[in-house]
Amino acid sequence: MIRTQVAIVGAGPAGLMLSHLLHRAGVASIVLEARSRGYVEGRVRAGVLEQGTVDLLKQSGVGERLAREGLVHDAVELRFQGRGHRIELSRLARGRTITVYGQQEVVKDLVRARLEAGGDIRFEFTDIALHEVATSRPRVTGRMQGESVEIACDFIAGCDGSHGICREAVPRSQRAVHERAYPFAWLGILARAAPSRDHLVYAHHDRGFALFSMRSPTLTRLYLQVAPDEELSAWPDERVWDELEARFEGEDGWRPARGAVIEKSVTGMRSLVVEPMRHGRLLLAGDAAHVVPPTGAKGLNLAMADVRVLAAALASFYSGEGESALDAYSATALERVWRAQHFSWWMTALLHRFPEGDSFQRRLQHAQLEYVVSSEAARASFAENYVGLPFEAP
Ligand code: FAD
Ligand code: DHB
Repeated sequence: MIRTQVAIVGAGPAGLMLSHLLHRAGVASIVLEARSRGYVEGRVRAGVLEQGTVDLLKQSGVGERLAREGLVHDAVELRFQGRGHRIELSRLARGRTITVYGQQEVVKDLVRARLEAGGDIRFEFTDIALHEVATSRPRVTGRMQGESVEIACDFIAGCDGSHGICREAVPRSQRAVHERAYPFAWLGILARAAPSRDHLVYAHHDRGFALFSMRSPTLTRLYLQVAPDEELSAWPDERVWDELEARFEGEDGWRPARGAVIEKSVTGMRSLVVEPMRHGRLLLAGDAAHVVPPTGAKGLNLAMADVRVLAAALASFYSGEGESALDAYSATALERVWRAQHFSWWMTALLHRFPEGDSFQRRLQHAQLEYVVSSEAARASFAENYVGLPFEAP
């Protein structure tokens, strides 16, 4: 039997950052991760960090490489009906910007920081089960290298992502689930090609949505809206590039530069919130508690915002201030979650092609897109949500 203060399930951005922030507050934790270190560090996912996420990483001492290698963007482009419209960010959002830096780089930096500080991350820890989460003596059991392991703790942090087991450990009668499915998915590629634009491009086209992004001066990241059950085999590289060019077509003749495709995958899209984010001594954070469609680039940023509040609440408990901050955790986190849910849903509905070919919906999309790019107030609202609202005092 091993003992710790906080047992954290999942070594994604939420679990690792929570462990890091707790360590800085003098609270002990063990991170339990089903996959290997190589798998977790190699998984290509999100790439846009909000200002608040960047500030949090830097202020907590894990932002050194981010400061060096992250690409600060002061604008994004909305492209539709053959024209691109640049939306400035910092001028419209009180000096705030976004930084392009891959999620897997954030994960690598956090793993390194935890291990260098003597942190306990157990990779390939499988068959996790949670016990007595509604009592003050919860336990986690699982297997590692063929051995059964049991961990006694004060709290369990469920940071195991959208397909984890922690959400299910909250009894059905004690949770509400709010959900929305979308009739499409994203096919994403990572290509060895210098980005041919210095900002992100979100394109709405009759053939479907497309997104141009990047990871570094030599890597381009691109996404295409596809059917939810799309087979990767139906999308050889040539077809992906041709379709991207068709959807980004415009008067300025811009197109993404082609290059060798080094990663290709399909991601489903949904919106989901589980309420509340706490059950007894089990605290949910990140995708374990809520999932957003990727259009607004909010998933990773929400995970970071959750654990910032959660780490402060746990630190307050351990400094003898009682449970009031923990009691407030769910409501505090959910306020931001619902704002981001709305923005992600809105941006998804604005930019994608809906399969039923609803002409009324399409006209609404065009009217709204025209409004967003032509009204200073609408642009400012877009920019403020896109760069992320400032954190309030936890
Ligand atoms: P995760 O990063 O999912 O981490 C959870 C961890 O828990 C994982 O390491 C997992 O292996 C581990 N785990 C799961 N179950 C168990 C278990 N039973 N026992 C132990 N460990 C377990 N967001 C964007 O903003 N833009 C994007 O382009 C984008 N693309 C995405 C592509 C994919 C394929 C996916 C799945 C998500 C994408 N997201 C994107 C969302 C974003 O990556 C997530 O919001 C972010 O990863 C949330 O971090 P997290 O730590 O909460 O969860
Ligand atoms: C990326 C992903 C997003 O979901 C998004 O809105 C912008 C960029 C990316 O992976 O680079």
